[in-house]
Amino acid sequence: MFSRILRPQTVTVLGQYAKTFSTTNPVTKKVGVMGASGGIGQPLSLLLKNSPLVTQLSLYDIVHTPGVAADLSHIESPAKVVGYVGPDQLADSLKGCEVVVIPAGVPRKPGMTRDDLFNTNASIVANLVKACAENCPKAMICIISNPVNSTVPIAAEVYKKAGVDASRIFGVTTLDIVRANTFVAELKGLDPTTVNVPVIGGHAGVTIIPLISQATPAVEFPEDQLKALTERIQDAGTEVVKAKAGAGSATLSMAYAGARFAFSMIRAMNGEAGVVECAYVRSNVTEATYFSTPLVLGPNGLEKNLGLGKLSPFEGKLIEAALPELKGSIKKGESFVANM
Ligand code: NAD
Ligand code: LMR
Repeated sequence: MFSRILRPQTVTVLGQYAKTFSTTNPVTKKVGVMGASGGIGQPLSLLLKNSPLVTQLSLYDIVHTPGVAADLSHIESPAKVVGYVGPDQLADSLKGCEVVVIPAGVPRKPGMTRDDLFNTNASIVANLVKACAENCPKAMICIISNPVNSTVPIAAEVYKKAGVDASRIFGVTTLDIVRANTFVAELKGLDPTTVNVPVIGGHAGVTIIPLISQATPAVEFPEDQLKALTERIQDAGTEVVKAKAGAGSATLSMAYAGARFAFSMIRAMNGEAGVVECAYVRSNVTEATYFSTPLVLGPNGLEKNLGLGKLSPFEGKLIEAALPELKGSIKKGESFVANM
């Protein structure tokens, strides 16, 4: 089943790993999911359980993980699944994890911004990441919890306070790329699995910056259509929040996107060359100290930041418009940890 949810180039690679798995088993990983019982956590855990890249799946939440783990453990794939519930079991859930994905926290309801989640989610992420620093300081940390523009700086500050290298912390913006690929493909009548649109900046409203001029295959749109497409990508999360009418935000597409990012990370950790994903990381590409750009991933996480590339004047203006909000969200996250 996993082959159907991944892009063709990924499928080929997973096929190769599946072969290696059956013989030597050196290339798979222990993955932790923090918030594993939630709307994202459950389908994300299902996708991870279904992959030959994962040998052990450690599921942590404050509720329901014994049931989620028991359910997933019956699936006929090799990954061993263990559920951990409540703060007393948090440390054990993280020991030995090489990749930790964090979708813990509350989602938006209609009328809210992602920043409205800050008061609840900031401390959830700070506590989970503190436990990561103590129990799996070398793990790649993939943060999904919103507001990503602030939760990633929060995580990095917690790592700094703990004296742990914060360069393995990634804000997962993959859903923006997935959406941009889908919407461009729809407009141009293309197979979405062949489209790749880099989306840079952050993960909220105007900070989401699709680089349509760098799409592959190359596509062109009249000015009014380009503006409407850009705004649809920027507002796509809100489109789902409105459609769910109080029942939360994107979960299934986010689980897909989170699994895509985790699999890319594991492939790169396993030595595959040329794995590129956009993610929100510490950055000196713009004057915002965290910024998402395409990154070459490697065995130690971020191998090379590919930067902005050649921008159209329209895209240059989008970056200018994004920077004030982005810088404010970063400062808010850093101040939160300073005052903890
Ligand atoms: P949800 O409410 O369905 O699930 C959240 C889970 O987190 C719940 O199971 C809850 O018990 C758990 N949780 C709460 N506090 C916890 C703690 N201290 N430790 C461990 N687990 C804890 O929400 P969801 O729809 O899965 O969304 C989760 C988060 O992901 C939200 O903040 C949402 O905004 C964000 N999100 C981000 C993206 C993105 O692109 N980065 C996309 C969609 C959603
Ligand atoms: C998304 O982009 O779907 C997520 O960030 C959830 C949200 O609140 O929109």
